[in-house]
Amino acid sequence: MVCLGNICRSPLADGLLRKKVAEAGLDIEVDSAGTAAYHIGDPPDVRMRATAKSKDCPIDDLRARQFVVEDYDRFDRIYVMDESNKNNVLSLARTAEDEAKVEMILNLSHPSMDLEVPDPYFGGEEGFLEVYQLLDEATDILMNDLKN
Ligand code: 4NP
Repeated sequence: MVCLGNICRSPLADGLLRKKVAEAGLDIEVDSAGTAAYHIGDPPDVRMRATAKSKDCPIDDLRARQFVVEDYDRFDRIYVMDESNKNNVLSLARTAEDEAKVEMILNLSHPSMDLEVPDPYFGGEEGFLEVYQLLDEATDILMNDLKN
């Protein structure tokens, strides 16, 4: 799961998917990263932690890191939150196989529409809830796919 800072959107996507994978008893590695270096080592934004906790999906233990080219070797699927994340991640792709791993996460719930998960960082509380709703739906659909 990849966003810009790895403190708002992608840690929530990471936490939701980790929880659902564990509940389903699947052995799948889930992680997240940011394309930018601003927040390396930081916990998720306090507002996103509060939203996640209120939905029974605490993400306090996650720490931000930057996306690295080796992530293409470590992961089969790379979900990005917006077009800018997509371009940044694709700029590190070495092969067509790497490129094929990258997908806009909301294409899970809204196929082929290339919708973006809005960045809640500079907005109000409601933005965090909206991100939660979008990512909960997308990760539910992803889980159905992974189980099958
Ligand atoms: P995220 O949100 O990409 O969802 O983690 C942001 C976090 C930090 C900044 C921008 C977006 N920032 O400019 O520091």
